[in-house]
Amino acid sequence: MKASIGTRSVGSFGVVALALLGVSTLSAVTPAAAGGQNAEVTFTKDVAPILQASCQTCHREGAIAPMSLMTYEDARPWARAIKEKVSTRMMPPWYIDRNVGVQSFKYDRSLSDDQIATLVAWVDAGAPRGNPSDMPPPREFADRDRWHIGEPDLVIPIPEPFVVPAEGANWWGDFFSDSGLTEDRWIKAVETKPSAEGFPVVHHAVTRLQETEDADTGDFLNEYAQGKNGDVFPPGTGRLVKAGSIIRFNLHYASIGKETTDRTSVGLTFYPKGEEPEKELFSRALAQNFDLDIPPGEDNVRHDSYHPFTTNVRLTGFQPHLHNRGKRQCIEAILPDGNTQTISCANWDFGWHIVYNYADDAQPLLPKGTFLHTITWHDNSSANRWNPDPRNWAGFGQRSSDDMSFTWTSYYELDDEEFAAAVEERKAMTDNNDE
Ligand code: HEC
Repeated sequence: MKASIGTRSVGSFGVVALALLGVSTLSAVTPAAAGGQNAEVTFTKDVAPILQASCQTCHREGAIAPMSLMTYEDARPWARAIKEKVSTRMMPPWYIDRNVGVQSFKYDRSLSDDQIATLVAWVDAGAPRGNPSDMPPPREFADRDRWHIGEPDLVIPIPEPFVVPAEGANWWGDFFSDSGLTEDRWIKAVETKPSAEGFPVVHHAVTRLQETEDADTGDFLNEYAQGKNGDVFPPGTGRLVKAGSIIRFNLHYASIGKETTDRTSVGLTFYPKGEEPEKELFSRALAQNFDLDIPPGEDNVRHDSYHPFTTNVRLTGFQPHLHNRGKRQCIEAILPDGNTQTISCANWDFGWHIVYNYADDAQPLLPKGTFLHTITWHDNSSANRWNPDPRNWAGFGQRSSDDMSFTWTSYYELDDEEFAAAVEERKAMTDNNDE
């Protein structure tokens, strides 16, 4: 029998439910003695491969991060900061709680415990260069004009090019563009992409489908972030773009010391006319809490909200949605028999809007009658660097000085037969893993 881990239930039910959620038993975390006692950890042999794989998409000339980490000369002055940011898991930006819930994701850019131990050991050893012949060849990066989903059928840019001044505060805002579609179309892939020139100033871009400009929900379309390259939906699934849809672009721009013009676009690839996928992929704002009460100066202010699923669903991803005072969000499933299972917890940093997409074999399977329970914590104290004013009470609202709490969820529905088959498949997989 499996042992109880945190709030998870135990016993045979626990095993089934863990399987449903794609949670495998956590292995004990071994404080890795990186490189062993004697082997010296060096930049060329041990550190450069990690920086190439996990840092350089952002940390290179002309990308969004403040400094390059391409060479030894680039990285050496930042050794202490690297130790501090990776050991606190502030970098790379990826804020999933590793101690609870589903642990397997697509586009997971986090470091393993061993990789962190290697970076820390390198800094502690005085950040040695090592043997130049160990240095791996430089990483090649894709052309900035390239669409990772292939050439889209329709490209919709923001209405006008946007000029980001050489110096200035971070800028967040929305743009609306008409899709120009005169009939409903199903899409099989979508990508949001800065223009080649705008690439270094676009911190993130989130696109949504709306019927009108002032609608505040609508369907989530796609998120651009460095290291994530568009969404090609699983075969047989698609998203419906209705005739007359408006694309809402939510952009975060940051200045880079020289005036830079961007024109971010979204690219759509359609199913052939008249062809419909078997399943519609939904991305919805669920468990919205309109009743927030966040007292001035207070930390760890908790709110709970719920969404009932009236059909069986396969959850493919989620993104917490909070504003400046957000601190953390957990989502759990309250199953029809009353048992609860934590799905995921993620810390929140207003500077990063990260979508967490579950790996195919870990996508939570939620039977109809499940309630999605969203638990959110806000920090209205002065310790929160994004807090506009810790002396103010905050409640729900659209302005960024107001706050919010809901969960963007991506999912598709399964009928009873499909659901039973998916559960069987998951159980078989988990049983094999246990052997
Ligand atoms: C998705 C893009 C991205 C990735 C991947 C990324 N960084 Fe960063 N990093 C940034 C940005 C942007 C900043 C500055 C703003 C911030 O801190 O949020 C930053 C800041 C930092 C800082 C602080 C710099 C300072 O001014 O003090 C360090 C150190 C750092 N990153 C190290 C790393 C390391 C090491 C990795 C890989 C293990 C990494 N980062 C991966 C985007 C990224």
